[in-house]
Parts: sequence; structure tokens; C-alpha cells
Amino acid sequence: MEEPAEILSHDQVELRRWRTSDLDALQEAISGSLEHLIPWMPWAATHDREQGAAFLARNQEEWESGHAFGYAITSDATVIGSCGLFRRIGAGGLDIGYWLHPRWTGRGLATTAATALVEQGFQLAGIDRMEIHHDAANPASGAVAHRLGFMEAGRGPAPEGPAAPGEVGIDVVWRITAAQWEARTAARIGTGELR
Ligand SMILES: CC(C)(COP(=O)(O)OP(=O)(O)OC[C@H]1O[C@@H](n2cnc3c(N)ncnc32)[C@H](O)[C@@H]1OP(=O)(O)O)[C@@H](O)C(=O)NCCC(=O)NCCS
Repeated sequence: MEEPAEILSHDQVELRRWRTSDLDALQEAISGSLEHLIPWMPWAATHDREQGAAFLARNQEEWESGHAFGYAITSDATVIGSCGLFRRIGAGGLDIGYWLHPRWTGRGLATTAATALVEQGFQLAGIDRMEIHHDAANPASGAVAHRLGFMEAGRGPAPEGPAAPGEVGIDVVWRITAAQWEARTAARIGTGELR
């Protein structure tokens, strides 16, 4: 199966494929982010070093099987968060996930990381749409999708209910098609916003 690039650079962030050797950097990023992650990330409440190692091992397996492509978000070589492309929404689609260390929020870096993922995702053969899913109580996540030009495609009860303490159990789905992304990119080049 076709794989994305292991390193994606965009503006101030570099995404690089998670490796099992990243355990210390992963642990440092997560341990400083727990309070900020626990409301939204189901794994955060029980996170420990063993779980971090399992996450990195799973990333290798899923990358190799083509099921998911997980990246560390880095700025000046420091790991500041995590993101990935996932084959969870059916043929032709990829969804995106992300989190940032709270010290690095509020600067557009999650939006930049997600932009790099969308650009890469649409370069993979057969990908015609990308989605971002989040709980309705997490508008900061939806704002990333909105800034990227995704459109809200629907919302409804999460089948499993709230999965983390901040959630209300309503899933919001944002979507952009390859044609919409191409048109948006062309328009931004036209206005000089992109070169
Ligand atoms: C979701 C999450 C990554 C969003 O982080 P974020 O900092 O809001 O998003 P960005 O890094 O794109 O930054 C956007 C902010 O920077 C500002 N900004 C500054 N320069 C910017 C630029 N060049 N481009 C875009 N935004 C910019 C924006 O105005 C926005 O500010 P606001 O929060 O006051 O509206 C973060 O809240 C998080 O890690 N949450 C916990 C985990 C989580 O919920 N993950 C998603 C699960 S579905």
C-alpha cells in the first residue's frame, strides 16, 4: 500500500513519523499536557510509560499495514504534539487527529500541522475526501477544521457515548473533498495568500 512521506514540513512545524526510539520525547510532551488532554483524549487519564511504548509500537504496525500514519509534531526539533492520518472512514477517505502541548497552543501550529496532513493525504492514490471528527464540547478542535476550509457535514450521538470526561457524546464531522481543497488552494494563490 502507498505510504505518505515520513517527514512533512510546513511553515513553522515539521511532522515526523513516530519511531519506537521517541519514547522519552513522547513522555515529556504528554506529561506536561495531561490536564489539557484528559477532557478529550480517552487514553490520557490512564497514561503511563508502558502505554506510551505501546502507542509507539502500534504506530509502527499501523504504518506498515497502511491503516494509520502517526507523526510527532515538532518545532525546532522539540516534540510539541502528535497528529495522524487514519483510514477509518471508508474507501477514498482519511480522517485526521491532533493534539498539542498547551504551551504551544494559540499560535496556529495545530492548523499548520493539519494543513500538512491534508496536503499529503490528497497526494495518496484514491483519496477523495478528508474528515475531522470531534466532540461537540470541543470547539477548539472544530476551529482547526473550520480554518482549513472543511465544512460541517453532520453531527449526532456517538455510538459509544462520551469517551472522555469533557465530552457530551455528540460527534461533529467536518469534511473537505479533493476538489474543494484544490479550489481553495487555487483561490489562496490567486489572492497572494499562498505562493
Ligand atoms: C485541538 C487543539 C490542538 C487546538 O489547538 P489550538 O491552539 O486552538 O489550534 P492552533 O494551534 O491551530 O491555533 C489556533 C489559535 O492560534 C491563533 N493563531 C495565531 N496565529 C495563527 C495562524 N498563523 N494561523 C492560524 N491560527 C493562528 C488563532 O487565532 C487561534 O486562536 P484562538 O484559540 O484564540 O482562536 C488543542 O486545543 C488541543 O491540543 N486540545 C486537546 C486535545 C484535543 O482536543 N484534540 C482534538 C481531539 S478531536
